[in-house]
Amino acid sequence: MDHDKLNDFLGRFTADFGATGSAGLAVIGNRLGLYRALAEGPATSEQFAQRTGYAERYLREWLRNQAAGGYVDYEPATREFFLTEEQEFCLADPDGPNLSAAFLISLGYLRAEPKITEAFRTGTGLAWHEHDEDVHVGCDAFFRPGYVAELVPNWIPALDGVDAKLTAGGRIADVGCGLGTSSVLMAQAYPNSAIVGSDYHAESIELARKKAAEAGVGDRVRFEVATAQTFTGEHYDLVTTFDALHDMGDPVGAARRVREALTDDGTWLLVEPNASDVVEENFNPVGRLYYAGSTFLCVPNGLAQPGGYALGAQAGEAAIRDVATEAGFTRFRRAAESPFNIVYEIRP
Ligand SMILES: C[S@@+](CC[C@H](N)C(=O)[O-])C[C@H]1O[C@@H](n2cnc3c(N)ncnc32)[C@H](O)[C@@H]1O
Repeated sequence: MDHDKLNDFLGRFTADFGATGSAGLAVIGNRLGLYRALAEGPATSEQFAQRTGYAERYLREWLRNQAAGGYVDYEPATREFFLTEEQEFCLADPDGPNLSAAFLISLGYLRAEPKITEAFRTGTGLAWHEHDEDVHVGCDAFFRPGYVAELVPNWIPALDGVDAKLTAGGRIADVGCGLGTSSVLMAQAYPNSAIVGSDYHAESIELARKKAAEAGVGDRVRFEVATAQTFTGEHYDLVTTFDALHDMGDPVGAARRVREALTDDGTWLLVEPNASDVVEENFNPVGRLYYAGSTFLCVPNGLAQPGGYALGAQAGEAAIRDVATEAGFTRFRRAAESPFNIVYEIRP
């Protein structure tokens, strides 16, 4: 045995083991507003207890865990914990990426571990709606920062002629929209356009309606509970599908419906997790988190639906292109990408 390699492996395990429990503590910090409270200024655990009104003994342990993991900082001379500018932006800024909320998705899907273990034996599926609500809220939190940073500034402008159509006033269908973050962002950016967001999951649509109303765009975004294979409407200039096609049992049926719902000159903006067709190129931190989510969420959801597909989160461009081609699309192009996503422009 190579002892250096052994020690490397044990170091990796120790980091993962600590991160697993710390994910729960990040969620506690998120639910209780602890990161925002710490952003008010440095504090000892006693001062932090006074500031937040929570139990000092728990806060002390939480703060020390966070400092050990690099999520907060510590000044030994004063025994004060504090957030650096970068930590504050990532964890406490109301307009920042709110990263601690992303752990909700992992905590949520881990609650289904006994069922997924059983599914390995039986090969049966487990549908999106059968998961804990934390999965749905956490999924939105995980993808949201990427959509805010990329969708309007980069992804739509990368499509041929779409920005101009939407600025003038176009028709958009956002299919598999989940909690509707993408629908709301497009409504805010394109006030002359009308948007219909749809998702098969009724509880997500309920939350999407609430979010659109809170954002003041309820008048130009309508939401419906519908599958991607049956969503309503015709003559759309743009259909969008964000991180949802690979979850479906019948992605070809969905693509056919998109083709039918688009104008002849329309565009399907398909956003999928960033993955290579060469499997070993996905053996990196992004691939790792997607394969985990895929095993708990994407593959079981595909297997729970009719259609025979379970593409999984790391489907890759070749598989996505096959789906689009089989559905009758003739133009397929990778228009943009980010660390977490690939953006395809697909046209009739
Ligand atoms: C990973 S989530 C992405 C949600 C949202 N687009 C986002 O980016 O945050 C996948 C979504 O696909 C939806 N979904 C799964 N199968 C579907 C189907 N056959 N038709 C419509 N929506 C579906 C789920 O309900 C879920 O909201």
